[in-house]
Amino acid sequence: MAGSRDATASATHALPIQLTVVVPTLNEVGNVEELLRRLAVALAGVEWEAMFVDDGSTDGTAELLTGIAQADRRVRLIRRVGRRGLSSAVVEGALASTSPVVAVIDADLQHDETVLPKMLAAIERDGKELAIGTRYSAEGSTGDWDAGRLRISQFATRLASPIMKTRLSDPMSGLFAVRRDVLLEAAPNLSSVGYKILLDLVASAHRPLAVVEIPYTFGTRQSGESKLDNMVALEYLELLLDKSVGRFIPVKLIQFGVIGGLGVGVQLALLYLGYDALQLPFRTAMIMAVIGAMTFNFTLNNVLTYRDRQLKGAKWLTGLLSFYLVCSVGAIGNVGIGSLVHQQLGGVALSGIAGAIVGSVWNYVASGWLTWTRR
Ligand code: GDD
Ligand code: MN
Repeated sequence: MAGSRDATASATHALPIQLTVVVPTLNEVGNVEELLRRLAVALAGVEWEAMFVDDGSTDGTAELLTGIAQADRRVRLIRRVGRRGLSSAVVEGALASTSPVVAVIDADLQHDETVLPKMLAAIERDGKELAIGTRYSAEGSTGDWDAGRLRISQFATRLASPIMKTRLSDPMSGLFAVRRDVLLEAAPNLSSVGYKILLDLVASAHRPLAVVEIPYTFGTRQSGESKLDNMVALEYLELLLDKSVGRFIPVKLIQFGVIGGLGVGVQLALLYLGYDALQLPFRTAMIMAVIGAMTFNFTLNNVLTYRDRQLKGAKWLTGLLSFYLVCSVGAIGNVGIGSLVHQQLGGVALSGIAGAIVGSVWNYVASGWLTWTRR
């Protein structure tokens, strides 16, 4: 029993942690030490810890952090293997914390860490539930952004207003602090897709949150490069869809359907090409069109709909083959229905569309199960 009393006694040596600062990292080796230095200065007098969440950085970020964490108990590290995504990384880091307040800040020094104590005070002292850093009010600013990026960001902000339960001037902000119990309440509803974790949070909370907005200026990246790529727009759309119609229909089904719709176009074009231009027998032209459409659908779904389980290299080829295989049943139905409609009713377009619809529904179910198997 003495042993357990000792353990309790030593655990109480340290003061309880007030604030966990979650820091998502992807190749930020040149930034994390400076960030920790700045956090230590900004948060002097606060009991804080930094929870880094690294998604397989290849520049030694995780190794560097491991070394730092060995010497400094305020530094913790979660390493995710085979995973990607800013939002989901932040959610996991936040859920691993036990402090009453959780903040999120980028590792690349673009966010102003000196607003963290103000955010903490607003929550601890003024009873706010959420404190956000905003670039769009009072003295806040987007720094050296060009007019193009500014316009896109503001347009995206306007698109988001219908799904927000709390009015925010800058729902795209990656700098904020929240009461942990508020986050836990919203956690089951989070979409966790893409970049916009704050927007996700206010859309997933059951009620409007007591919020304070603290202006800051978005800085310039010192080291490394932005991970924002052209998928960001798609991820943003996925978040908006998931938060609006996602309750009724899976976002992946919508994407598969849209791509399937484009596939119908490809199939029709190929059908006209084979049947009208090349004068092939209808059945041959239809088979050619279906194979072309399947390849098109596989390729697009692989880079868009299922990019979270994207097949590459040898797996791409076996994936394509399995897609052909699982869809061959759909294709038989596709060709069969198409030919049947053509025989009975005539009309190239009508027969092509009828075949494609029957094929696509089957394709979605079968390929989600066999081709893009969840790892
Ligand atoms: N773990 C993990 N996984 N971290 C990631 C990932 C990922 O897939 N992608 C990016 N990060 C980390 C980066 O290492 C960096 O610390 C932070 O997330 C932000 O990434 P940037 O690529 O620098 O994004 P940004 O500067 O264009 O945009 C940021 O600031 C905006 C304004 O606040 C993001 O936070 C945006 O969401 C935000 O709107
Ligand atoms: Mn950045």
